[in-house]
Amino acid sequence: MCSLFFLVILSAILACDCLTKDDVLVYTVATEETDGYLRYMDSAKEFGIKPNILGFGQEWKGGKEIRTKPGGGWKINLLKEALQKHKDESDKVVLFTDAYDVIFSNNLDEILKNFKATGAKVLFGAEPFCWPNPELAPMYPEVKDGKRFLNSGLYMGYVPELLKLLYRKSIGDDEDDQLYFTEAYLDETFRESIKMKLDHTSTLFQNLNGATSEIEIYVNESKDKKIPEKYVVKNYFTHTEPMVIHGNGFSKLTLNYLGNYVPNMWNSLEGCIKCKERTLNLANQPVKAMPLVYMAIFIEVNTPFLEEGLQKVYNLDYPKERMHLFIHNAAKYHTSLVKNFTEKYASEYLSFKQILAEDGTPEWTARDLSLDQSTAKNVDWYFSLDSIVHLDNPQTLRLLIEQNRSVVAPLLVRSGKAWSNFWGALTKDGFYARSKDYLEIVYNKKRGLWNVPFITNAYLVRASIIKRYDRSILTYNKPDTDPDMAFCRTFRELNIFLYVSNRVDFGHLINADNFDVTLAEPEMYQIFDNEMDWEARYIHEDYQNNFAPGRVDKQPCPDVYWFPIVSLRFCNSLISMMESYGKWSAGTSYDERLEGGYEAVPTRDIHMNQVGWEPHWLKFLQKYVRPLQEKVFLGYNHDPPRTSGGNFVVRYRPDDQPFLKPHHDSSTYTINIALNQVGVDYEGGGCRFIRYNCSVVDTVPGWVIMHPGQLTHWHEGLYVTKGARYIMISFVDP
Ligand SMILES: *[C@@H]1O[C@H](CO)[C@@H](O)[C@H](O)[C@H]1NC(C)=O
Ligand SMILES: *[C@@H]1O[C@H](CO)[C@@H](O)[C@H](O)[C@H]1NC(C)=O
Ligand SMILES: *[C@@H]1O[C@H](CO)[C@@H](O)[C@H](O)[C@H]1NC(C)=O
Ligand SMILES: *[C@@H]1O[C@H](CO)[C@@H](O)[C@H](O)[C@H]1NC(C)=O
Repeated sequence: MCSLFFLVILSAILACDCLTKDDVLVYTVATEETDGYLRYMDSAKEFGIKPNILGFGQEWKGGKEIRTKPGGGWKINLLKEALQKHKDESDKVVLFTDAYDVIFSNNLDEILKNFKATGAKVLFGAEPFCWPNPELAPMYPEVKDGKRFLNSGLYMGYVPELLKLLYRKSIGDDEDDQLYFTEAYLDETFRESIKMKLDHTSTLFQNLNGATSEIEIYVNESKDKKIPEKYVVKNYFTHTEPMVIHGNGFSKLTLNYLGNYVPNMWNSLEGCIKCKERTLNLANQPVKAMPLVYMAIFIEVNTPFLEEGLQKVYNLDYPKERMHLFIHNAAKYHTSLVKNFTEKYASEYLSFKQILAEDGTPEWTARDLSLDQSTAKNVDWYFSLDSIVHLDNPQTLRLLIEQNRSVVAPLLVRSGKAWSNFWGALTKDGFYARSKDYLEIVYNKKRGLWNVPFITNAYLVRASIIKRYDRSILTYNKPDTDPDMAFCRTFRELNIFLYVSNRVDFGHLINADNFDVTLAEPEMYQIFDNEMDWEARYIHEDYQNNFAPGRVDKQPCPDVYWFPIVSLRFCNSLISMMESYGKWSAGTSYDERLEGGYEAVPTRDIHMNQVGWEPHWLKFLQKYVRPLQEKVFLGYNHDPPRTSGGNFVVRYRPDDQPFLKPHHDSSTYTINIALNQVGVDYEGGGCRFIRYNCSVVDTVPGWVIMHPGQLTHWHEGLYVTKGARYIMISFVDP
């Protein structure tokens, strides 16, 4: 007793300012190399901190469910054992932290300085919840500022006092460590005897649970543009900059967010700093040595531009002899397309398995099955893709594998929208919430590798994780939950990080919300929802060259211009839309579709509004035709171009309407797009401008003829002698 008392005195004397960071012993408990462990070690490395890892490689003995149930006595017993060899080093200070949900945000010198400033011999972090036994709450001393209750995830103390605390009683491995320390703290005599205090205002330790709204990242901008800004965790409630951050309880997602920046994980000059670590390099690998991939494609909804989407999957620059292919097609509409794809390409893959729409297999069953298959095939990576995914970057798969994380999704965004395949934050009940940096990531203002709570549509998973958990744990099937939400929730519960990467551009998402497959050529109607994909399929590949500097425009007749504008696919689709509608006008002067009913120059035609395509056509005029017009008819700028229903497809046939007599158009300018091929689909035809005795007869499908509508450009439709000639006409600005 007397010697112990003496020891206390001695240690008080020794606890002078002569301590340095080398006198701090850092301990943590971690049984395995989880994502959280790697993050913890990264943050330690940033400050040159070398934690002693206790329990590594051992089975966790501190109780079954550490997250929600008491446990953790094992941590105390491990520390007691480890401190044996330091038991006489009264001049040493121990810093104990949990590992998986902790990051350091400052160095040991600063940590020590703040510790000493508290005057405690043993200091614990504080939190607003009295746990695991809330009934003890009234026994806690009142506090004026900050949090009242003890949390055992972070503490620091001089060896002698800490040993007294650790040996105060014995504790079973699966008993609760927080309760153990709480009881010691509530014993006032004992508390005073070892000068045990709580860090109520987070000068050192920040437990995030119950305090997340007090915390934000402070950006310390540098005046020197060549020195990157620094990200600091600040507590805006206590006005402190805590140095060890603990994402305890349900605050893990907040820690994940903070950990994207702190300490020194990302800055605007260097981008993401730590994401270059622990990566693989597949360049120059022989094919035989390339990781094996199980690629599973899910077609759960009718999807516009699926043909191109699948082609991009096929175009991935990765050896197909190292890839298994699995397709679940739940959309009958796509049966023929998928059949064409698989008949053409499936044999190139290592194996191929398909679940057809006719089987009626629910989505989650198919997804779970693909997980089992990936395990059966003993692959290295599982790669899941939904039909709305377009991987425009053929290196996507290779880059994701090289990133070498447990789960990583390529950032995909609906073109021009803020809709993406990840969530930056979650509401309490697990639904979408927007993180502060969500838009910056979506718009690539910040590029990097981001730890986020939810990803979907496309992701790569390390197959060993899938192998480790069977379908009772890792499953897409949870009651009342979407398959992807169920999947992500499981990963969050297992503390496996979900990363989304926008280190480079990977691709985009299709919007399948308004895809009406009852229409003939439904993709033609997608100009609003999927503008980029619409353009890629339907706009002429040379269209942009119309604007190339020094380009000499074709002018077959005076003031008649000729441009490539739409693809052959567009031409065929427009004809098909019209023929499947089929109600060609009578070609008489009475036209019930017109106001007043009189048509001076009747043709056999179908108006755009008859097939519900007028708004789409006006958009086309505005976006693709107007710039051409402004380029050649200088000084005339009407945006958007107007028409009064004068948008239609004309069909000329020898037996029907073979020609059109000379006329003016009621337009400022007229466009005339040839939709099929002279000499192949029909003979004769063309347009003659009478004043100039000049004809355009060798029309090219997909090319537009643009000419003034009146006065100078009186014109006629020339005789079609064979077949059927289709042209698309629009009277612009009547
Ligand atoms: C910002 O960084 C500078 C230089 O490291 C430091 O002196 C200053 O105290 C920091 N400001 C804040 C508010 O953290
Ligand atoms: C890839 O990741 C695993 C798991 O984190 C790690 O064990 C391995 O060392 C990493 N590979 C490289 C080359 O860093
Ligand atoms: C599949 O291929 C056949 C034969 O080439 C073709 O007729 C059909 O239109 C294709 N289906 C789709 C949806 O592309
Ligand atoms: C119009 O052009 C055609 C062919 O170039 C020519 O045969 C004809 O004589 C011309 N007519 C007039 C009125 O100039």
